[in-house]
Parts: sequence; C-alpha cells; structure tokens
Amino acid sequence: MPSSIVSELAEIVGAAHVLTDPDTTARYTTDWTGRWHGRATAVVRPADTVEVARVLEVCHRAGVAVVPQGGNTGLVGGSIPMHGEIVLSVTRLDRIEDPDPVGHTLAAGAGVTVARAQDAAREAGLIFGIDLAARDSATLGGIVATNAGGVRVIKYGDTRAQLLGVEAVLSDGTVLTRWKALRKDNAGYHLPGLLAGSEGTLGVVTRVLMKLHVPPSHSYCALVGVRTVGAAPALVDLLRRAGLTIEAAELMTDAGMRLVRRHRALRAPLRIEPPYYLLVEVSGPADTEGLLLGALERASDLVLDATVDDERGRRLWSYRDSHTEAINAASSTPPVKLDITTPLAAVESFVDTLTHTLATEFPHARPILFGHIADGNVHVNLLDVEPGQALPVTGRVFELVAAHEGSISAEHGIGRSKAPWIHLARSAVDIEVMKAIRSGVDPTLTLNPHILPAR
Ligand code: FAD
Ligand code: MLT
Ligand code: ZN
Repeated sequence: MPSSIVSELAEIVGAAHVLTDPDTTARYTTDWTGRWHGRATAVVRPADTVEVARVLEVCHRAGVAVVPQGGNTGLVGGSIPMHGEIVLSVTRLDRIEDPDPVGHTLAAGAGVTVARAQDAAREAGLIFGIDLAARDSATLGGIVATNAGGVRVIKYGDTRAQLLGVEAVLSDGTVLTRWKALRKDNAGYHLPGLLAGSEGTLGVVTRVLMKLHVPPSHSYCALVGVRTVGAAPALVDLLRRAGLTIEAAELMTDAGMRLVRRHRALRAPLRIEPPYYLLVEVSGPADTEGLLLGALERASDLVLDATVDDERGRRLWSYRDSHTEAINAASSTPPVKLDITTPLAAVESFVDTLTHTLATEFPHARPILFGHIADGNVHVNLLDVEPGQALPVTGRVFELVAAHEGSISAEHGIGRSKAPWIHLARSAVDIEVMKAIRSGVDPTLTLNPHILPAR
C-alpha cells in the first residue's frame, strides 16, 4: 500500500473525509450482524461523482483495492474490507432531485437512504417501490448493488425491475452514465441491470434513476393465524382470486412472534398463538375491506384467527419489521442468516424437512424462520450457533435448498457468507461468463476483489 495514498486521497476529498483512525473507521469495518470484522487502510468519503472518479483513478493507478460501501446494512459481508482495502463510502452523495410527477421517476444520489427516497416519493403523491426494515440506513447505491428485494417485491419487483438508469464509476475512474427516463430504451446491453446485483464489483454507483408508482386508493392489512406454512401461499392465492391485489405477504412463526414481542414488549396480536402467521397487505376497489373479510371468512379451513388493520397497518407491520433486530439482540453468537427461495409448491416440504434436520443434527441452533412467503423466500435465521458450526449448518441447509430446487440467495446476494456455495446456484458456465464480464470491466480487480468469482 503506497504510503502516499492517504495524502493523495485527502487532496481529492479533503482531510476530514479520509478516516484512518481505527476508532472512527470501526463502524465501516464491521458488518451489521457482527459476524465480519475487517480493517481498512482508510475510509474515504467523496462528495460527488467527480471525486469518486478521481479517488478510483488514484487507487487504480496505485494498485490499491477498493470496497464500495453505502449504509453497511448488507447481510452477506460484501461491504467489509477484510484485507486492508480502501472503503469508498458513498454516503455523502445524498442529493435527491425532484421526483418527476408525470414520468413517475426519482433521480437521486447513491448515498440517499431508502427512507428518504420513500419520503420524496410520498410528497409527490407516489410510492417508492422498495421497502425493507433497513430503510433508514440502506442506500440507493446499496439496493442497486445487491439488487435488494424487500417486502414489496410481490407488487413492484426487485430493485433491478424498477431501475431505469445509473451513473457509475468504473475501476479506472471512467464515468458510465446510462440515464434515460424512458420506459422503453432497447439499445444494447442493459447496463443498469448488469450493475444491479454486482455487489460493488463492476462499478461504484453514484446516481440512481428509479421508477415510482401510483399508490393504491384502498389498502388493508390482515394478520392471520394459520396452522401450516402451506396455508400462507394458499391464502394469498385465495385473496387474489377474490379480486384483491397483494401489496405484501410475509410469513412469521410462533417462535419469531414470541421473540419480537419480548424484544419490543408488544402484546399478542391475536386471541390465540398459532404456529404460523401471515401478514398480508391487500389493495383493491372501494369495498376492499369487505372483500378481504369475506375471503377470510370463506377460508375458515385455513384461518385459525385474524385481525384486520386499516391502511398500512403500521401496528401489525411492527411485528414483522422488528424480526431482524430482535434476532440480532437475542442470539448469543452472530446469527447465521440464510436467505433462501424454493418453488412455492415446495416451501412447506422444505420447512418441515429443515425443522426436522436442524432438531436432529444441530439441536443447539435456534431457528427463527420468516420472510417474503409469496416470493417463496424464507429467511432462515439460526441463533446461538457455535462459531465452528456456522459453516457445517449452512452447508446442510443449502443441501436441503438444492434438494428442493431452490436458490441459496433470494435477495441478499452472495458476498462472503455464501461464496463457498455459489456452485449450488450457478453453473460452471454461468461463473465463467461472470468472470469474463468482470475481467473486461475491471481487469485489475480493483473493486471488491474478494467478492463474487474473479479469476
Ligand atoms: P452496503 O451494506 O453498504 O453494501 C452492500 C453491498 O453493495 C456491498 O457488496 C457493497 O460493496 C456494495 N455497494 C454498496 N454501495 C454501493 C455503491 N454505491 N456502488 C457499488 N456497490 C455498492 N435486503 C433485502 O434485499 N431485503 C430485505 O428485506 C432486507 N431487510 C433487511 C433488514 C435489516 C434490518 C437489515 C439490517 C438488512 C436488510 N437487508 C435486506 C439487507 C440490506 O439492507 C440490503 O442488502 C441493502 O441493499 C444494502 O444497502 P446498503 O446501502 O446498506 O449497502
Ligand atoms: C428481512 O426481510 O427482514 C431481511 O431480509 C431478513 C433478515 O434479516 O434475515
Ligand atoms: Zn428480506
């Protein structure tokens, strides 16, 4: 690491925005779950695309690796410098340009948080289509880089599906601007789509252009107690056939509900404590509430109990939103956070097989399952796992995922945590093509060199 690199970076961004003292860099070198503790030569905080380009030019010339970072809420260790890399934090790129109320688009800096983007859309009478419990810290650059999903995928799709344009800086400082507020622009490769999910390996995203959506005029939330996992997708299907649009559909379990209630001192939401809960938000015509209540009454074979809340049901959502935080607080070791999908028809069999396998082979691991059930996405969080058991239990769960034709990463990406098992989700040809793209875009492996397959 050339000793002059820190002073050269300070020349570009100002000394106040080059951090080297371990106390000040600590929050940039440990991940949200507490599993990954790294070290950075320096954390550099450029103010705009021009400064990002100059920082990368200097690092590229000096052969110094760079880890792009947004809100550092990633759950797979992809934003942590484990080899003394330079952390390039985009948090100062936090300017929001006015939402386009006619074209329904939002242009903003990569350091803008999801919450601020949601507020800007709401002020324009529109909806920002990505929502996740990390909304106050997760950034627009981060949700692009991880192709984040969240609780609204069922209605609006993932980040890539709503991404219209990006401005990004390549590893040598070249600025790529693919920026057209057009719904249809079919000229060549979809570079924004390629950067989505690239986890900081193809470019540093500095500006983002996202689609916005018109909010539904009538929406209601229901928290429904059900006996089995399979009842959740069955209920979602039934609500759709009753003429309702699904805005969100989240599974929780009795164990997760008890953990969250203890963590947040919340009372039980239903008169009974069912094995599973479906939190579903629906929208539709003026009599949406009537359609919802009627459908739940007709589904008496699936519904053990239910409560309905108007509008966005913030009270009901607090049980779901608090899961990740409650799990982190309750686990005696950094939770093993697995984020899997299976085909909808296989979810129940996967959960039953998983529960039995964990109880017999890893009896000390405490599973809390929850997640975006209508996407087939179950978050398998394992608490109290002995450090030496994290890899074996992860491998075992992923074997079950593969046996159920699923994916080892639904929305969080691969990062460091899932890297040893990428072959379960991607073929050898897939991986060779990804390497070829990467070596074309970043031949010196300057950007996040230890994330995703390289050479
Ligand atoms: P970081 O954590 O800073 O970085 C994540 C990755 O993106 C790293 O590889 C990093 O190098 C890269 N990166 C970051 N910014 C840039 C940039 N500007 N240019 C290029 N690369 C960049 N995720 C979901 O998908 N769905 C959920 O429902 C969800 N819920 C969550 C709930 C909680 C409580 C928490 C803590 C996390 C949750 N996450 C979820 C994970 C996380 O919020 C997302 O992965 C999010 O997209 C990360 O954004 P970030 O700005 O924090 O990125
Ligand atoms: C969520 O949906 O809350 C996160 O993606 C899952 C997790 O924290 O494991
Ligand atoms: Zn999630």
